[in-house]
Amino acid sequence: MDSNPRVSVIGTGYLGATHAAAMAELGFEVVGVDTDQAKIDALAAGKVPFYEPGLDVLLQRHTESGRLRFTTDLAEAARWADVHFVCVGTPQRATSHAADLSYVEAAVTGLAAHLDHDALIVGKSTVPVGTAARLRELIRPQVPTDLRVELVWNPEFLREGKAVHDTLHPDRIVLGGTSPEAEATLRTLYAGPIAEGTPVVVADLPTAELVKVSANAFLATKISFVNAIAAVCEAAGADVTVLADALGHDVRIGRQFLDAGLGFGGGCLPKDIRALMHRSRELGAHRAAALLQQVDEINMAQRGRTVAMAVEACGGSVLNRRVGVLGAAFKPGTDDVRDSPALNVAAALHLQGAQVTVYDPQAGETARRTFPTLGFATSTREAVEGTDVVLLLTEWDEFLGADPAQLAGLTAHPRVIDARGRLDLGRWSAAGWEVRGLGRAA
Ligand code: UDX
Repeated sequence: MDSNPRVSVIGTGYLGATHAAAMAELGFEVVGVDTDQAKIDALAAGKVPFYEPGLDVLLQRHTESGRLRFTTDLAEAARWADVHFVCVGTPQRATSHAADLSYVEAAVTGLAAHLDHDALIVGKSTVPVGTAARLRELIRPQVPTDLRVELVWNPEFLREGKAVHDTLHPDRIVLGGTSPEAEATLRTLYAGPIAEGTPVVVADLPTAELVKVSANAFLATKISFVNAIAAVCEAAGADVTVLADALGHDVRIGRQFLDAGLGFGGGCLPKDIRALMHRSRELGAHRAAALLQQVDEINMAQRGRTVAMAVEACGGSVLNRRVGVLGAAFKPGTDDVRDSPALNVAAALHLQGAQVTVYDPQAGETARRTFPTLGFATSTREAVEGTDVVLLLTEWDEFLGADPAQLAGLTAHPRVIDARGRLDLGRWSAAGWEVRGLGRAA
């Protein structure tokens, strides 16, 4: 293949939009493809349709330079590009824990139907192990026999909020099921990160697919482990935040992903561990499935525990009580509210009759669209004013830096629950707040 291949990126969500902009930044001509006309119009105008720090700069730079363009025409992209990255979503199915692969199948078969020259199809979406092999079979009858079309897997590990950094400076590059030619093409495309020392792991197709879901399952397990221990801490009068710091000094353990609290949410971790649980069962690996089931259950229980703590703080019922919720996004640094633990807790309290007011520095609008019956504020002060209890549910810096003494003056009942283990409870207590924290002695 050409030493300067043209690139298409199919699916322009968090993953695809970032990957398309990053490929342009690495020097390639790129077309981004999506079925959503509004999203394509926004991206073509250099506007990111979601909050992702730094992506707007790259997008503007390369839509202006002409190296990056967007279209809804998959057939045109199939004819124009040489390498096609598949970045469409694989959400959880409505009726089971399995991943919905209909978007991946539609993208790959839609693409294959229009190929008129040799091409490399590179799957980046997170898929259950065995999907890539099945996709190869699916497209085999579609591709003219005189063309050389290869399908490989190259999973993506980017974090929302740090997507640009993670794409341009990944921890590793995994190349699955590549022929020597395909490997060479991908090494050309990733020459920038490789020159910086990013390790490349060459694997077979199933291993590459499994690396991604195992990485997410491990991170989820780490969080649920510390949350399970947090319950022991609470019962024993210990402090899980100090415990996590001490554990983290062991380099074999590491401090990251040991923040106990409300647990994990978002568009990846929850659905990925459930899909792996489902696939493990299908493959007869029942112990792996049982482990992941516990990870999921421990995680979901943290939401219930937080609701119970709020009820307890209000004397046994939140009916007609005013609850201030700080945070709506599933984590700081994003406006993504998919499977957000914060909104889940806010909605549960609302259902129990509380008057809930939510404030989030970025996710207010997306949260309002998802839960229009909740109250929304435009500042921390407004969310705290006149409340019976305040809950810290997403640890934005804005909340961690707030002055507890000033906020205490806004309510006759200064009570705070830190569900993210990030407030200086001593300082809040000294400022007059009644404080509680998940996994921390009362
Ligand atoms: C994750 C993976 O990190 C990334 O590699 C993969 O490609 C996609 O899924 P992301 O969903 O963006 O990325 O979020 P991440 O930063 O991993 O956080 C996931 C969730 O775990 C958040 O809800 C966060 O609040 C929670 N979390 C994280 C904890 O509860 N405790 C921690 O110590 C760390």
